[in-house]
Amino acid sequence: MKDINFNTIFNDIFIELQPMENPGVAASYIPELAKIDPDKFGIHLSHVDKGDFYQGDSNERFSIQSISKVFSLTLAMRLIGGNLWSRVGVEPSGTAFNSLVQLEVENGIPRNPFINAGAIVVCDVLMTYLDNPKVELLDFIRTIANNPSLEYNQRVAESEKNTSDRNKALIYLMRDFGNIHNDVDEVLDLYFYLCSIEMNCCELAHSFMFLVTAGMDEASGEMIISPSQAKRINAIMQLCGFYDEAGEFAFKVGLPGKSGVGGGIVAVHPGKYAIAVWSPRLNRKGNSYMGMKALELFTTKTEDSIF
Ligand code: DON
Repeated sequence: MKDINFNTIFNDIFIELQPMENPGVAASYIPELAKIDPDKFGIHLSHVDKGDFYQGDSNERFSIQSISKVFSLTLAMRLIGGNLWSRVGVEPSGTAFNSLVQLEVENGIPRNPFINAGAIVVCDVLMTYLDNPKVELLDFIRTIANNPSLEYNQRVAESEKNTSDRNKALIYLMRDFGNIHNDVDEVLDLYFYLCSIEMNCCELAHSFMFLVTAGMDEASGEMIISPSQAKRINAIMQLCGFYDEAGEFAFKVGLPGKSGVGGGIVAVHPGKYAIAVWSPRLNRKGNSYMGMKALELFTTKTEDSIF
């Protein structure tokens, strides 16, 4: 990487994005998410040897939604290792995050752990192996993030529970195929809890640093997962982190990453940095419109991606 001034790059990105029209729309199928100011914008870079850089609303917490599926996957891999892959695949789906179409023909085995069906199976695994899944999952996320103040948002979790027909359809179909082993309402409760966790861009970038440092915790130096497991999670993020827009994200940004319908995106450059961006207006595929643009500009201006 050439010698880069990240402050200048962030300023330039801000100046380029500000006059741009944003055709995106904030998620409203979870009513509580529609209450957020859709024009928020924050970005935070955590670099292994150059430190931290940020702009805009980077210190304001928001609903991280599907981004948290990276944490639940990490915990499930710690608990059962490779046995997870008999319950959920590692292939891109090429379909929407909440699609039902492949599940029927593929015998209730979700394509990957980031589509809703896959994340629900991961929650089912956590229910089986943890005594107190909600508490232990939040504790794990707090440990990874080195931040004991992280919390879930009960209003968002309830809002999602009240509008959960599609996730219910997914879990019942999977149970019929024998791929759900616990009580469906309890599994869904854990899933909604997971999705309603809130973080800001700074916290998100730091919580993904273990995927930059081959599984090592930033603060303690302890291994959260093995280097091989970190490689695998990054590979799944690259191929499945943006659902039916994973190709577009690889093409334009060129980093493994994960989005959420709260408008957040986190991307990692293994060995170098984690970057988180937040802008609630989503494109038609459910990914942050400006978030994708900002990251595209970032890897273009730094002339550095994993490719
Ligand atoms: O289950 C849902 O629909 C949401 N809790 C999460 C979906 C999501 O974030 C998809 N990501 N872009």
